[in-house]
Amino acid sequence: MKLYIQSKKYGSNVVLKDVSIEFPEGSATLVIGASGGGKSTLMKSLVGLTKFKGYLLKDGNSRVRFNRKNICYISQQPLLNPKETVIQCLYYQTLLSFPNMSKTEALQYAKCFIQRFALSKVENQRIRSLSGGQQKRAAIAHGMLRNLPVIVADEIDSGLDCVLGESIIRDLCRIAHQEHKTLVVISHNLDNIRFFDNIVILAGDEHGTGRVVYSGPTKAVLKHFEAKDIKEVMHIVSNKRYRQNTQDKEEVL
Ligand SMILES: Nc1ncnc2c1ncn2[C@@H]1O[C@H](COP(=O)(O)OP(=O)(O)OP(=O)(O)O)[C@@H](O)[C@H]1O
Ligand SMILES: [Mg+2]
Repeated sequence: MKLYIQSKKYGSNVVLKDVSIEFPEGSATLVIGASGGGKSTLMKSLVGLTKFKGYLLKDGNSRVRFNRKNICYISQQPLLNPKETVIQCLYYQTLLSFPNMSKTEALQYAKCFIQRFALSKVENQRIRSLSGGQQKRAAIAHGMLRNLPVIVADEIDSGLDCVLGESIIRDLCRIAHQEHKTLVVISHNLDNIRFFDNIVILAGDEHGTGRVVYSGPTKAVLKHFEAKDIKEVMHIVSNKRYRQNTQDKEEVL
């Protein structure tokens, strides 16, 4: 899947410019960058929730548009029905996603996801009564059970304690690799980058417009920025002079 955003504006505010990112099939990509830098806007453009100037292709070579029905989007603020219990919520979604499943099979299938995302204790609680982290896990389970080839998750580990956050990220990356799914995740937690194949770093230019300053393998990012760790990379890219230099180079190229 290849996303190209020539520009994305809200009114006269240009939030993203010249964004070109390949998300290889079966790989896990982490998107990082400063708050307000355009990460959620990038995700919404990817899943078709906001209009932009550009395109989403199946891959860079075929020029065939990517069908967004294949994308499961887990938003920054989970949008589940607050009146339903966790098991109802997952069961109804299973029936909707797999109309040929019997009710018994659907219930079993939903229960698998309850277990997988450690929700057994609260399966009969209403969504509105869950803690923030439990709601987030319910939203991830609700999205994942649709079994779509692309999973896009915004701040997937916010509201989760670091142990649970790490285990969910690790599991999702494993699922992406084993089941050949394309996973795209936004996170502010830099401790889990080792689970991802690729990293995309967004940083604002001198006008505050979001630009991709790195898009490539996780293992090459430190060398690329000549940094000792990823935190240093984030300091480097938020430095105004670095951004100015990068842009000058782009213009020369
Ligand atoms: N619907 C909207 N209308 C107008 N401006 C918007 C809208 N959505 C986002 N913005 C603005 O676009 C910019 C990028 O927002 P976005 O939500 O993409 O940032 P983000 O990188 O996801 O930040 P965070 O890490 O805080 O979630 C911000 O300046 C924000 O105020
Ligand atoms: Mg956001």
